[in-house]
Amino acid sequence: MPLEISGLVKRFGEGSEAREVVRGLNLSLRPGECFALLGPNGAGKTTTLRCALGLTAPTAGDIRLCGLPVPEQAREARMRVGVVPQIDSLDPDFTCAENLVVFAGYFGIRESEIRPRIPELLAFAGLEGKDNARIQSLSGGMKRRLTLARALVNKPELLILDEPTTGLDPQARHLIWERLRRLTAEGTTILLTTHFMDEAERLAHRLAILDAGRLLAQGSPREVIAAHIEPQVVEVFGEWTDNGQSAGPESGAAAWATRYAADFSKRCEISGETAFCYTDDAAPLLAHLAHQPGLRTLHRPANLEDVFLKLTGRELRD
Ligand SMILES: Nc1ncnc2c1ncn2[C@@H]1O[C@H](COP(=O)(O)OP(=O)(O)O)[C@@H](O)[C@H]1O
Ligand SMILES: [Mg+2]
Repeated sequence: MPLEISGLVKRFGEGSEAREVVRGLNLSLRPGECFALLGPNGAGKTTTLRCALGLTAPTAGDIRLCGLPVPEQAREARMRVGVVPQIDSLDPDFTCAENLVVFAGYFGIRESEIRPRIPELLAFAGLEGKDNARIQSLSGGMKRRLTLARALVNKPELLILDEPTTGLDPQARHLIWERLRRLTAEGTTILLTTHFMDEAERLAHRLAILDAGRLLAQGSPREVIAAHIEPQVVEVFGEWTDNGQSAGPESGAAAWATRYAADFSKRCEISGETAFCYTDDAAPLLAHLAHQPGLRTLHRPANLEDVFLKLTGRELRD
């Protein structure tokens, strides 16, 4: 197995200052799958990955990375793993090619061996001909893509990516998605964290939603959606007055929802100016809304973001 984690606990600090940020986590990756770890900021995603790689010591639990016990044999295990850390750690004094050469050295790969592979590695990351470009001259997206190329120098069987597409433009995200799919097609196992639900829904064979150090849901995107949320969503927004009677503070989708949502949906959440109505059958709700002038509606199947918000709440995280 590429990665097996059982009963992982990670506590930072001592005594009254102690904080448990991972609380009994079990995770098992299957060979060749893409697994997405989702969770709000501070959920414990990066800490879990760092424990898995033996970069931080777990407080309790068992970890096997590429079949080897971690932290005991973390160094050997890491030789077979590629990592794209949350924060880029490229050497700014070197060119793209030099960064790859230096990094390959950590894996005992000689310069004569890596040099001929550089054009292919850079092309994979959409950085053709950037061999001699300095790191400072690269955009954020180019740095991220170079970090992906760098993670592949040792031809890893497992690739771990911590928020690989955060801060990237849509073009760069699509390139990275396509490349990651190519890697899984070639048999590489992928573990990634992301804040983008569409990314997880698209790429991941399986995913887990983590919050406050605990897993709240796990399965294929379809399974997680089917298990945790009503299948249909109607988003309601816009102006509303109860039969044109009241205006002012009583107008809007929230006022409509207070009065009617429970009659037509199983669950309704207000967020900002929008009422999210969750239901097994949207037809009666849509028929009702057809007679509510001013309100606008968006009818769609429930998605992973709906599940994520239901399980982790809509409050802001820092
Ligand atoms: N070295 C550390 N010392 C103390 N607290 C830490 C340390 N690293 C992370 N934390 C805390 O652990 C929690 C989880 O962090 P992290 O794993 O980075 O979450 P995520 O990657 O899901 O955003 C956060 O509250 C963070 O502040
Ligand atoms: Mg993180």
